[in-house]
Formats: sequence, structure tokens, C-alpha cells
Amino acid sequence: MITLRSGAVAAAIVLGLVLAGAGLSGAARAQGTMVGPEVCAECHKAEVQVWEGTVHFKSFRELHKSKDPDAKAIVEAAGGDKNPKKNETCTLCHYAMVAKKEGDEAKAVSGPACESCHGAASEWVKIHNDYGGPGVKAADETPEHKQQRMQQASAAGMIWPAQKFDIAMNCMNCHGMARPGLDAAVLAKMMDAGHPIKPEYELVQYSQGTVRHRFYPPDVTKNAEMTPAELANLFVAGQAAKLVSAAAVVGKSDNAKYKAAQEQRLADAKAALGKLAAPEAKALIDAPTVENARKLVDAIAGKDLSGEVGGLLPAAGTYK
Ligand code: HEC
Ligand code: HEC
Ligand code: HEC
Ligand code: HEC
Repeated sequence: MITLRSGAVAAAIVLGLVLAGAGLSGAARAQGTMVGPEVCAECHKAEVQVWEGTVHFKSFRELHKSKDPDAKAIVEAAGGDKNPKKNETCTLCHYAMVAKKEGDEAKAVSGPACESCHGAASEWVKIHNDYGGPGVKAADETPEHKQQRMQQASAAGMIWPAQKFDIAMNCMNCHGMARPGLDAAVLAKMMDAGHPIKPEYELVQYSQGTVRHRFYPPDVTKNAEMTPAELANLFVAGQAAKLVSAAAVVGKSDNAKYKAAQEQRLADAKAALGKLAAPEAKALIDAPTVENARKLVDAIAGKDLSGEVGGLLPAAGTYK
């Protein structure tokens, strides 16, 4: 039997099928609210320790004081609350927002955290680790229950580590300044006030350095590095997400800096995906939709593409 935690590749295939079967691989995900990283810390100590070493964590104390570029000038240009932690534009991407209890106003509790990448957890945190009721251990869980649990958590908003395209879209929406909900006029003002946008942002380079947490069995004490095949696969998921996110926003604003960055992202992603022999890659380049991106990512699951895109992978020494 293939178990979810027996390896990222097997998990990606199993989860892809399980979630596609339930019709949940699309946009059917519910939007809960964040419970905050302290809740996750109760059970995921190793992951929390990694997170505490990242810019995501450290920025909570530093962003509002940063001078280069000038956070104050950017927040003033955006309008609204002068404190980035309370400004409705900055909080879209810079902070994990948690309400103490239902109905309370959500407050910034940290920089981008667990749920910024894995999905707001109020509706899934009690489901995702429930093997079938009190006292039931992982080893005793039936395969049917496991499938059901994964589907339910996903429908309730959880992004599983094996759902590489969904995780990649999340990174790309923040890092590509492509988050839905970001007002076009506000965006243009932020850009002019010096807000950075880095079209060269690439998933392998940004996820395999300080951000990497891969404490998988058999040795859950080891933060494992990816194999060349896994890196190539992640690279492709990242390019697919880059293409889809850039295509969605390239027409959003006439701001010259923003437009140039999105056009660069489109061109880079097309060039990278153009190296692939899979017909799904060509279909995605021709029509950069979420559906086509998923088809490509599903089609390459478990395959070794390091021959096709290996030359484009960033050197390990450049990982952020
Ligand atoms: C009470 C303990 C507990 C809490 C609290 C908890 N988790 Fe988990 N989590 C687990 C267990 C146990 C698993 C393994 C489930 C399995 O075997 O599929 C897990 C699995 C996961 C996975 C998938 C791991 C994989 O290999 O696929 C992610 C991601 C995750 N948790 C994130 C979180 C986040 C984010 C939070 C906070 C919002 C959180 N968890 C809170 C116990 C917990
Ligand atoms: C769409 C997501 C998004 C929004 C909205 C957003 N930012 Fe950012 N911001 C980012 C990302 C991603 C970076 C990191 C870019 C990089 O260096 O790769 C960043 C970087 C910055 C930096 C430079 C990094 C530093 O710590 O010096 C400042 C300053 C900044 N943002 C201020 C703001 C302010 C103020 C607001 C609200 C008006 C805001 N941002 C809204 C995504 C966003
Ligand atoms: C920047 C985005 C990001 C943040 C922040 C983040 N994760 Fe993850 N997480 C990922 C990605 C990507 C993977 C998939 C890793 C892989 O399989 O290569 C992952 C994998 C995992 C796993 C399975 C691997 C393992 O380490 O056991 C767990 C559990 C998990 N995350 C929990 C958490 C918790 C808890 C936090 C907060 C302390 C957190 N994550 C913060 C992106 C993130
Ligand atoms: C909710 C929005 C958001 C998501 C999702 C997100 N990030 Fe970030 N990330 C930011 C912001 C904002 C900054 C800049 C913080 C600062 O400098 O103050 C940042 C900074 C970083 C940095 C530090 C960059 C540097 O130049 O040192 C890395 C690395 C990074 N993110 C990787 C990732 C990866 C990989 C993912 C997805 C697995 C991801 N991020 C998802 C918002 C996000």
C-alpha cells in the first residue's frame, strides 16, 4: 500500500488522483480563517524551527522599520492605515492575520506563516490529522479513511505538501504581486513609491534554502534535500504557476514597471516550459489556464525531467 507520508512522489500521484476524483483539484476550496502558527507549533516543532530562520518570520519585526525601499513611503502611497500591520493592502501579503475569537477583528500575529502557504486552517486543522477518531493511530487508519481525510481537509482549505501546483500558485501570487483582491490603482501607486517586484523569482531557488522543511519518513529528524528529479519537477510546477499568475494580471495595470515585470515573467516561463517534450506543456503555453497547468503537473508526476530542464535549475549555492 502506498502511504501518504511514504514519499513526495508517491504522495503527489496518489493525492492528484484522489483529489481529481473528488473534483477538488480546482477552485472548490473553502476559505476559512487563520488560527495562527502557535496552534501548529504544538505538533510541528521541526517545521516551526525552520520557519523561525526565514525572512518570512523575521520580517514581522523589521518591515515597518525598513528604509530601503522605504516602507513608509509605500504605505502612504497605498492609502489607508499608516501602520502596515493594520493596512488592508499590506496585510494581504506581509502578515498572518488571526482573530482571537469568531467575530473579532483579525490582527497581524506574524509575517507570512504556515497558513499563508498551507491554507487558512480554521476548517481543516481538526480534520487533517484525524486518523478515524480518538485513539486511532496512523498505522491503523484504513486507506478509505485516509483518502476521505485528505479530500475533506483539502475541500476545507488545506493545501497538502504534495499539491505542488497549488503551493506554487500561492508563492507566485504574493511574490509576483498577483494576488486577487489587490486593487489596480493602489498597486500602481505602490510600484511608483518603490515597492519591489522581482520577475526572476523562481520556486526552486526560493524554496530550497532557508524555507525548506522536508521532515519525511523514514527519517523524520532529517530535513531532506530534494533529488535532481524532484527539483526538476518542482521547477516545472513553479514555471507553470508563474505563467498562469502573470497571464492573469499582465493586463491589470498600465504601470510601466509592473507591466514590464509581468511580461518578463511570461517570457521566462514560456521559455522554460518550451523545453519540455510533454504535449501538456505546449497546451499550457498556448492557453495559460489553471486547468492546463494542472494537467501538465499531473502528467509529469513521478517522471524525471532533469534531462529536459536540468540546465535551467539554479545552482544550490544561490538558494535563498
Ligand atoms: C494536534 C497535532 C497537530 C496540530 C495542532 C497540527 N497538525 Fe499538522 N499534522 C499532524 C499530524 C499527526 C500529521 C500527519 C497526518 C498524516 O499522517 O497524514 C499532520 C500533517 C500535516 C501536513 C501534511 C504533511 C504531509 O506530509 O503531507 C501539513 C502541511 C500540516 N500538518 C500543517 C499543519 C499546520 C499549518 C497546522 C496549524 C494550522 C497544523 N498542521 C496543526 C498533527 C498536527
Ligand atoms: C501582493 C503581495 C504584496 C502586497 C500587497 C504588499 N507587498 Fe510588500 N512585498 C511583497 C513581497 C513578495 C516582497 C519581497 C520581494 C522580494 O524581495 O523578493 C515585498 C517587499 C516589500 C518591501 C521590501 C522588503 C523589506 O523588508 O525591506 C517593503 C518595504 C514592502 N514590501 C512594503 C509593503 C507595504 C508598506 C505594503 C502595503 C502598502 C506592501 N508591501 C504590500 C509582497 C507584497
Ligand atoms: C513559504 C511557504 C511555507 C511556509 C511558510 C510553511 N510551509 Fe510547510 N511546506 C511548504 C512546502 C512547499 C512544502 C513541501 C515540501 C516538499 O515536499 O518538498 C511544505 C511541507 C510541509 C510539511 C510536510 C514536510 C515536513 O516537514 O514534514 C509539513 C508538516 C508542513 N509543511 C508544515 C508547516 C508548518 C507547521 C509551518 C509553519 C511553522 C509551515 N509548514 C510553513 C511551504 C510552506
Ligand atoms: C502571503 C504572501 C506570501 C507567500 C504565500 C509566500 N511569500 Fe515569500 N515573502 C513574502 C513577503 C512579503 C516577503 C518579504 C518580507 C520582507 O522582506 O519584509 C517574502 C520573502 C521571501 C523570501 C526571502 C527573500 C530574500 O530575498 O531573502 C523567500 C526565500 C521567500 N519569501 C520564499 C517563498 C516561497 C518559496 C514561497 C512559497 C512556497 C513563499 N515565499 C510564499 C510573502 C509571501
